[in-house]
Parts: sequence; C-alpha cells; structure tokens
Amino acid sequence: MAEFSLPANSKVHTGKTTSVKTSATKRAKTFRIYRYDPDKGSNPTEDRYEIDLDKCGPMVLDALIHIKNDIDSTLTFRRSCREGICGSCAMNIDGRNTLACLKAIDDVKGDVKIYPLPHMPVVKDLVPDLNTIYAQYTSIKPWLQSQSPAPSRERLQSPEEREKLDGLYECILCFCCSTSCPSYWWNGDKYLGPAILLQAYRWIADSRDEMTGERLDNLEDPFRLYRCHTIMNCTQTCPKGLNPAKAIAEIKKLMVARAA
Ligand code: SF4
Ligand code: SF4
Ligand code: FES
Repeated sequence: MAEFSLPANSKVHTGKTTSVKTSATKRAKTFRIYRYDPDKGSNPTEDRYEIDLDKCGPMVLDALIHIKNDIDSTLTFRRSCREGICGSCAMNIDGRNTLACLKAIDDVKGDVKIYPLPHMPVVKDLVPDLNTIYAQYTSIKPWLQSQSPAPSRERLQSPEEREKLDGLYECILCFCCSTSCPSYWWNGDKYLGPAILLQAYRWIADSRDEMTGERLDNLEDPFRLYRCHTIMNCTQTCPKGLNPAKAIAEIKKLMVARAA
C-alpha cells in the first residue's frame, strides 16, 4: 500500500485547535491539517479542526471548503471541478495520496489527517509547487506531432488503434502517482516519474503521431526512464484506476525491441 508516515525527527508540531462542538452537534470529526505559511517564517504545524459533519457534504473536500468558508479562511488548498476530473485537489489523506473530492470522510477511521502531496516543495498549506513536474511534462512534448500533410478533415484512427489509448487518455495529471514513487522522491530532478512517463507513452501509443523514434530517443537515458524499479506504488495509488507502471514497462519493451 502506498502509505506514508514522517520519520520521528521530522514530525510536524501540533498547532492550534478549533472546535465548533456544541450541545447540538450530533456528528463531530477532527481534521488534522498540515499548515505552512512561508510569509510567517515559522515551522509547519498540524492544526486541528473539530467540525460538525452535519454542516458539510460527505467528501473530504467538502470538509475543507466548510473549514475555509466558515471557520478559518486562511486555510489554503487547490480545487476546481469537485468531481475527480481536474486533478487539482490531490493531497495525502489518511496516509494515502488521493483526490479530496473523491475521498469520503466516512472512509477514514478516527481523525482525518491531511497533508500535501509528499516530497514536493510546499507553496502554502496543502498546495504543492508543481513547476518542476510541469517542466518535465513540457519536455515530453505532450501534443500530436506529425510531418505528413494535414488531411482535409480529421486524422482518422481505426477502433483498434483508438483502443490502445484506453487507460492512458484518462490521466488527469493529479500527480498522486509520481509523489508516491520512491524513485521520484529521491531523483525527481532527473527521473520523469510515473505520471509524465504515462503521458509520454500516451503519445507513443497514438497511431496518428509520427515522432515515436524521437520520443523514445528523448527517454533513452539512465535517469529519465530507467529509475523506475517497478515498485508499483504508482499503480496502487492512482485515484483514476490507471496503471502507470504498465505504461513504463511498455516503453521499456519498445526500447528493447528497437535495439534488437
Ligand atoms: S513502478 Fe516505477 S514509477 Fe511506479 S512507483 Fe514504482 S518505481 Fe515509481
Ligand atoms: S496516472 Fe493516475 S495518479 Fe498519475 S497523474 Fe494520472 S491520474 Fe493521477
Ligand atoms: S476538485 Fe477536481 S479532481 Fe478534485
């Protein structure tokens, strides 16, 4: 299971506690949330918010929105679609990387611990700095590349060719997988990680793309591709049920085939 806990010497200290529990509160739950504000110049804390579950919706994102709107407006996190499509609410909940909008509060036993995606620089609270990983995404040229003249209408695919993109096109770039990958933790500046490699394979597998050789050249490197050691955390944690480890294996197979 892709679950994480901090080493003892890097524990985040307990911060403030806010409780809205009253005699009328029927269902109270404590949320323990990582807080970090670079402008304050102090260490991160884990703040506690005891909230009334009858005042918010069923998902962890609903609780975060309730806390921000009604209890503590300084709490900072990303979200947009609220239905598992935009990928922006990815965070570590109850020790596992997932999407806050798809994680039911009732699925968490005891307090709900919420931290930012692991091993990424933190901009503020639950917001990771994604600049490096988006630069890596740019490096794989994530668009259709073709040298043949454009057809008068669309570039066609057979149903079988289109089927090869299933399990790839659904990726929402939430980065739950890359931030659960030990190889990416330790070599994230050089290794592309599972999310970007799945995206790279998405274009390699596309019958309309004519740059397969160049795309493989771009990945043929001891770090960019071959730091994957098939640990499988990525596949276990993907909230969309995708299999980045398989996509990486397919790229490695193509490397072997073209070298033969
Ligand atoms: S299979 Fe590869 S990419 Fe996935 S977690 Fe393991 S090392 Fe990382
Ligand atoms: S493969 Fe899954 S976990 Fe990784 S970025 Fe795509 S949707 Fe997120
Ligand atoms: S808010 Fe869009 S995936 Fe959660």
